[in-house]
Amino acid sequence: MNDKGSKLWGGRFTEATDEFVEQFNASVEFDKRLYKQDILGSKVHAQMLVRIGILNSTDCDSLLRALDAIQAEIEAGSFHWDTGLEDVHMNIEARLTELVGEAGKRLHTGRSRNDQVVTDVRLYLRDAIDAIDQQLEKLQLAILSVAKQEADTIMPGFTHLQVAQVITFGHHMLAWFEMIFRDRTRLQQCRVSVNFLPLGAAALAGSSFALDRDYVAQQLHFTELCHNSLDAVSDRDFAIEFCAFGAILFAHLSRMAEELVLWTSTQFNFIELPDRFCTGSSIMPQKKNPDVPELVRGKSARVYANLFALLTLMKSQPLAYNKDNQEDKEPLFDSVDTTHDCVTVFANMLPHIKINHERLLEAAQQGYATATDLADYLVQRKVPFRDAHEVVGKTVKYAIAENKQLDQLSLQELQRFSPSIGEDVFGILSLQGSVASKNTYGGTSPKQVAIQLKLAQHRLQDFKAKQAP
Ligand code: ARG
Repeated sequence: MNDKGSKLWGGRFTEATDEFVEQFNASVEFDKRLYKQDILGSKVHAQMLVRIGILNSTDCDSLLRALDAIQAEIEAGSFHWDTGLEDVHMNIEARLTELVGEAGKRLHTGRSRNDQVVTDVRLYLRDAIDAIDQQLEKLQLAILSVAKQEADTIMPGFTHLQVAQVITFGHHMLAWFEMIFRDRTRLQQCRVSVNFLPLGAAALAGSSFALDRDYVAQQLHFTELCHNSLDAVSDRDFAIEFCAFGAILFAHLSRMAEELVLWTSTQFNFIELPDRFCTGSSIMPQKKNPDVPELVRGKSARVYANLFALLTLMKSQPLAYNKDNQEDKEPLFDSVDTTHDCVTVFANMLPHIKINHERLLEAAQQGYATATDLADYLVQRKVPFRDAHEVVGKTVKYAIAENKQLDQLSLQELQRFSPSIGEDVFGILSLQGSVASKNTYGGTSPKQVAIQLKLAQHRLQDFKAKQAP
C-alpha cells in the first residue's frame, strides 16, 4: 500500500511516501506486540467519549464489537499487518474503519498516537512486571528449598576466590535470596512509576474536549494521572527504571551464574547440574557444559546495553514527543523477555542441582579456613588480636611447610607458636565448631541460618500482602 490516499494522515500530502522511508519509518514489526493494550485503551477511550457526549452509544457499541473482532483476528493469526500503516495503532484503526465505517473514524477524537503509544507501553510494562515478579518469587522459593536442605552443609567461604572461612551452603543460598529480595523491591518501586495514565495529554497540550481522565484511569487501573501533558507524551523514564532494575538484577544473576559455572568445573566439583539443563560438545565426547548459567551470564550484556540504549535515547530530547521515542520499544521488550526467561530457567533448574557434600567438606578442610578461629581463640585467652594474627600467620606458614592442616598439628607443635594454646583448641579447629561459633545475627551458624530461613517465609508473605492488587 503506497498511495497517499491510504494514509490516515494523508490530507496535507501531495505525494506518496518514499518506499524505503515507509519501511524505515514503520514500527509495526515490533510494536504489534502492544495490540492487546492498544485495543483495551481504545475501548475505554470510546466509552469515555460516550460519557462526555462526544460519541453516541450505538457507534460505541459497534466500535467495541469490532475491537473484539480485531483482537480475535490478531490472536487467530488472520489479521493482515500492513507496514504501510506504520504502527500497531494505525493498523488497528484502519481495520476498525474497514469493519464499522464512520464510527471507526470517530474513535481518535481527543486522542493522539503520542499519548496512545505511551499508555500502551505503560499497560504492557505493568503486566510484564507482574509476570516477572511471579518468576522472581519462584526463584526465591527455589533458592530457599536448597538453603533449607543444605542448611548445615559445610563449604569453604571465599574472599578473593581464596578459601577464607568455613560457611554453610545454606548460608550461601540465603545471600542469593537477599539479592533477589532487593531486586523485587526495586521492581515494585518501578511499578509505581509506571502506573500513571498519560491518555488525555493528546498530542502534547491536552485536549479541547472535556475528557474524563479519571474515568479512564479507573477503568485501566492506573493509580494516578500524569500531571503534565508535555511530560506525559515525552518521557520514558519509567522504562529506563525498568531497564535499570533489569541491569541490577542481571548483576546478581550473573554472579550466581558465575558461581554455578565455577562449581560445576572439575577443579571445584562442588555441584552437578541435571543433564537436562546441560549440553554436550560436538567434538569432545567427555564434555558436559553448563550452558544455562553461561547464557544467563552472557545475557547480562544485552540487559546492561538496553539500559544504556534508553538512557541515551532520552538524553537531550527537547519537549515534547519526538519520533526518537519509537526506539524505546525494542530495548525495553528485549529486557522484559530476557529477564523473564533467565529468571524462569534458574527457578526451574536450581531445585535440581546435586550437591557434592564430600567435596565441599574436603575443600573447606584444605584452605586453613579455621585460621581466624585460632586467632579468636587466642584473643579469648587475652592475647591482643594483632599479636594473635601474627602467631597464627606463622603457624599456617609452618603447617604449609609440613603439608598439614591446622587440626593435624600436635598440641606441642601448636604451642611452639603460643604458650596460650591448650588442649581445648582442637574443638575450635574443627569445621563444625568454627561454623557454629559464627552466631552473630545474619552469620553462618546453622542456628542463624535456621532463623533466617524462618524469617524468609514471613518476609515473602509480607511482601505479597503489600503488593498492589
Ligand atoms: N510508532 C510511534 C511510536 O512508537 C507512535 C507515535 C507516533 N506519533 C507521531 N506523531 N508520529 O512512538
